[in-house]
Amino acid sequence: MGKPISGFSKLSKSKKIDWIVDTYFSNKEAATKVLKQYWNNNEKLQQLHDEFIENTITNYYLPLGVAPNFLINGKLYTIPMAIEESSVVAAASKAAKFWLDRGGFKTQVLSTVKIGQVHFMYKGDTARLRAFFALVKPKLIEACKPITLNMEKRGGGILDIELVDKTSELDTYFQLHAKFETLDAMGANFINSCLEQFAKTFVEAAKSFESFTEEEQDIQIVMSILSNYVPECLVRAEVSCNIEDLNDGFAMSSEAFAEKFVQAVRIAEVEPYRAVTHNKGIMNGIDAVVLATGNDFRAIEAGVHAYASRHGKYSSLSHAKVENGIFTFWMELPLALGTVGGLTRLHPLVKLSLEMLHNPTAKDLMQVVAAAGLAQNFAALKSLTTTGIQQGHMKMHLMNILNQFEASNEEKLLLIDFFKDKTVSHNSVSEALEKLRQQNILKP
Ligand code: MEV
Repeated sequence: MGKPISGFSKLSKSKKIDWIVDTYFSNKEAATKVLKQYWNNNEKLQQLHDEFIENTITNYYLPLGVAPNFLINGKLYTIPMAIEESSVVAAASKAAKFWLDRGGFKTQVLSTVKIGQVHFMYKGDTARLRAFFALVKPKLIEACKPITLNMEKRGGGILDIELVDKTSELDTYFQLHAKFETLDAMGANFINSCLEQFAKTFVEAAKSFESFTEEEQDIQIVMSILSNYVPECLVRAEVSCNIEDLNDGFAMSSEAFAEKFVQAVRIAEVEPYRAVTHNKGIMNGIDAVVLATGNDFRAIEAGVHAYASRHGKYSSLSHAKVENGIFTFWMELPLALGTVGGLTRLHPLVKLSLEMLHNPTAKDLMQVVAAAGLAQNFAALKSLTTTGIQQGHMKMHLMNILNQFEASNEEKLLLIDFFKDKTVSHNSVSEALEKLRQQNILKP
């Protein structure tokens, strides 16, 4: 049974652990040992991680893998990926290699506009509010100068602010809908600071706007926050080749493969149940790079799935066609990413990942991430439409099953070889390992 506690955040890390193991664990020593074995020996490094969040008790490892051979706009990349799912890095690497020999990925940033909104309630005449907004708009921008000065020096800043009447959807609800260019920063703090300043200036100025009635002067701010829906921060990634070049030693002809592949994409375009899984496969690649480069994968997920529903029905992010003997597979998606600020300067592995990617600008990173997503989607659809997904998946999953059974390194090598041409399942691995152990052939 749990119990409430006050002042938990003020306890030292060790005291926090003591309380947790006392409250929740029967084997307190074992639980403490597991938590502490993930602490880094380097105290300074550990402290850095402790201070990323509140109430840190230990570190939670995810593997950082790399997918080499990504040719993107003629430049070679090895892409860092932080992910727990066993087949993702292997699939990305395979797809990268496949397209390396066929011209690589062509990517392009289509737009980089980010959005923030001040949501407020106004009881009164809309025409008078519009007149007030026209008057106050330059003041809203001016009052933000201390926040925007540096960003403006680099070529970014506030692009525009619009007054939006939402009263048809919610009584007395209006917004200031603002657009920003945040260059290499993801820009969350910049945008939110500007929005909060807009709100302050707006409310203050309303109080002395003489055309307003007393009630109209009393504008109620509900909240000021950026939007993770960024349909104007778009990147496109594409691969294409002659149909005959598609052949990769699979059992069907290149034409049949291309046709089946396009059908698979069409299904994801029209069928939401399939689209969700199809896009999940894309996000396997995207999230892994987003995480490795210290970006906010929840923001990316939220924005991408909203974009996938922009026509009122959830649909595929990627598309494919065969035209004049050319197979083309592409996708456009919103990615608000940063390569400065946030974790990028703080987390040593994020710094390392960015350096591995040639220290990209945010625009470069958008393109790398989009290529990783498209590669992942290509790999999944290629497997699904040829061998089926389980063959590759279970091969990669074999190691997880072997680890669950605490197989030794020798046992692992023998069983990986044994399962080369056999179907992997929890049961089949358990049986094979059992047999191996009974035969005692591995014991010295
Ligand atoms: C598994 O993580 C992702 C896939 O299901 C994606 C797909 O079905 O396209 C293989």
